[in-house]
Amino acid sequence: MTHTQQASVTTGLFAPARLGRLGLANRLVMAPLTRNRASVGGVPGELMATHYAQRASAGLIIAEGTTPNAVGQTYPRIPGIHSRAQIDGWRRVTDAVRAASGRSHMFLQLQHGGRVGHPDTSGHIPLAPSVVRFPEELQTPRGLQGAVAPREMSERDIRSTVADFAAAARNAVEAGFAGVEVHSANGHLLHQFLARNTNRRTDGWGGPAANRIRFTVEVVRAVAEAIGPERVGVRISPGESVNGIEEGDTEEIYAALVPTLADIAPVYLHLVHADPDQPLFSQIREAWTGTLIANPVLSREEAAADGGMRRGERLLAEGAELIALGRGFLANPDLVERLRSGAPLNELRPEFLMYVHGEEGYNDYPLLALG
Ligand SMILES: Cc1cc2nc3c(=O)[nH]c(=O)nc-3n(C[C@H](O)[C@H](O)[C@H](O)COP(=O)(O)O)c2cc1C
Repeated sequence: MTHTQQASVTTGLFAPARLGRLGLANRLVMAPLTRNRASVGGVPGELMATHYAQRASAGLIIAEGTTPNAVGQTYPRIPGIHSRAQIDGWRRVTDAVRAASGRSHMFLQLQHGGRVGHPDTSGHIPLAPSVVRFPEELQTPRGLQGAVAPREMSERDIRSTVADFAAAARNAVEAGFAGVEVHSANGHLLHQFLARNTNRRTDGWGGPAANRIRFTVEVVRAVAEAIGPERVGVRISPGESVNGIEEGDTEEIYAALVPTLADIAPVYLHLVHADPDQPLFSQIREAWTGTLIANPVLSREEAAADGGMRRGERLLAEGAELIALGRGFLANPDLVERLRSGAPLNELRPEFLMYVHGEEGYNDYPLLALG
């Protein structure tokens, strides 16, 4: 795959930037990418340390969705950040990234799957806002299985889950991360609270959008109190239907959520499907006072044409400060250098979707000098 951009262009994407107190070498962010490469028990090892160290030229790396507690685990070999071994494992990863570049900062995405989980994987009946079963099959240690009905979270479950997010954030800082990203996107637990089809509650956590945003707000507030708002980011995916989500009233949700989050002042908001031609983009940009990370979500054609350069530049011009790319970083450990120099990009190999344990399709994408 080649792309058409001229060699050695210097554009806004490669300019240094600030993220709160952090100085970033460039405006390119590695988006969180689940790859199921932790050991059994959710402990990151050498394989993951090598993977992230290979990508240490990104201005910011947001490490993959990581569970804040046992019940929040989605799939086998997803890393956690709630045990001593997991904290020590992540410490080896952040050390490896620091040793590789010294200029790349890392945030860890905290992801609770909610109804996206299975007792054979986590050892627990999944928790969710309401008893609305996940409509798809899930990968488990015994292969693909249908989802079980989740248990509706009690007031006590809600309080303890919020506390688990705060504890996980403290653990992440101890493991050497500059901060954490609260995952309120893509159909996971926080998004399940936001969306009408998965939140059927009639108490103060359900009903109108002002109630459905409360769980995300409480998690973000608790995490910000635990480690400081300058170490906290939040990911949202307005309108997204992945993992069986139907928000119902997208505009109301984000009109309520974004300004409320802005009052807590996390350092960034990370917007999936960021599209400056949608009215929601400018509404969010206006309501959000902090740094905006835009993840454009590239079509095959856009990825092939220029790796997302044009979409990224446009988003910077429309008010985003940082641009997150997922599959580009997956297939190109040295994506920043390739985009900067106009070098060809590696082809995304089909096995990337298999989520298998091992080097293949993970750490064996060639670097430019060797490619
Ligand atoms: C293999 C894979 C794993 C992903 N894992 C996560 C994840 O753990 N957390 C998350 O918020 N998004 C996850 N995503 C979504 C990406 O962060 C990103 O939004 C998506 O790939 C679109 O960006 P792109 O067009 O640059 O790839 C994943 C995507 C892929 C392809």
